[in-house]
Amino acid sequence: MVDIQYNTSLLPYNTFGIDVKAAQFVSCLTIDDIKEVITLIHDQNLPYLVIGGGSNLVFTQDFDGLIIYPKLDGISTVKQDQQHVWIEAGAGVVWDDLVAYTVNKNLHGLENLSYIPGHVGASPIQNIGAYGIEAKDSIEVVNGIYIDNKQSFTLTNDDCEFDYRNSIFKNKLKNKTIVTSVIFKLAKKTTFNLSYGNVLEEVEKLGEINLSNIRNAIIEIRKSKLPNPEVNGNAGSFFKNPIITKALYTKILHNYPTLPSYPIDDHFIKIPAGWLIETAGWKGQSRGQVAVHDKQALVLINKGLATGKDVFQLAQVIITDIKNKFEIELEAEVNMIGS
Ligand code: EPU
Repeated sequence: MVDIQYNTSLLPYNTFGIDVKAAQFVSCLTIDDIKEVITLIHDQNLPYLVIGGGSNLVFTQDFDGLIIYPKLDGISTVKQDQQHVWIEAGAGVVWDDLVAYTVNKNLHGLENLSYIPGHVGASPIQNIGAYGIEAKDSIEVVNGIYIDNKQSFTLTNDDCEFDYRNSIFKNKLKNKTIVTSVIFKLAKKTTFNLSYGNVLEEVEKLGEINLSNIRNAIIEIRKSKLPNPEVNGNAGSFFKNPIITKALYTKILHNYPTLPSYPIDDHFIKIPAGWLIETAGWKGQSRGQVAVHDKQALVLINKGLATGKDVFQLAQVIITDIKNKFEIELEAEVNMIGS
């Protein structure tokens, strides 16, 4: 039997440090627990929300429903061949514990994704990514349960319709599934991906190029740029990097010759939202209890007593300002929960 808690503080369950309550809260340790909870939400017609590490959401009000917290654990080897090892991790495994595990086993693929907060179950939802790698590059299949009929599913990498910070779980299957585990296909040997920013330079400072030095270099880069949620609540990048047309890019470049960019294809270009926000003068600025991080303008931080509404308001002001200055509509990367 699952143990439902009532009127539970969500403070320990969101890295932004927003102090709201959930009417009901339940941890699920097994697939049977998940099925039992699905029966409950159907019988009681309960609004529900599945959360992982709470590192990519901001609550703007108390949650008047059931928070489902999958805690399925375990990391195991599914199979291997000469070149690859397939590793399955439970949805509740802490993402960085999985990365540490694979690096210790000398398996390649996840090392650039070191130190990303959150749980394995959330990794396919928004296709987490950093330093030139995305989760989709290693995900073989995603296992889970459909909420409408309690059936298990296995979706292949192709089925998941992965894209930049996007997947089928944010579209057609939004709020319709609970991920139970993810299987990653990792290489016994590969060429490293060290082309992003100063990654190679930072690895070389640590000595030879190997998995553990890459992991340590990435951890140091992240620590130098991104705020520690224990000190200042935050949800990492608050906005997605916008993808704009070449015509708009050329127009902005005319006034801002240093505009950085990453080509997508012949027609579209990705622009770092952090650059737009910094150039618009927001870096280090605050509104009440919410600030734009002074080392990475893409990150909003909680100065201590922020409410979700404060965060939402500053995000809106920034979106409007960037629209006015650059004709670019920023889109939140973080999920805002509530009205
Ligand atoms: N930049 C600025 N000012 C800033 C921040 C960035 O000008 O304050 C410009 C610089 O030109 C810099 C470029 O933006 O070279 C890229 O900055 P950074 O390497 O910090 O990456 P990002 O594009 O801002 C993305 C991800 C991060 C990920 C990094 C590294 C998104 C929404 N964010 O940020 O992901 O760690 O790349 O790969 O794509 C997250 O999703 O929570 C997250 C932290």
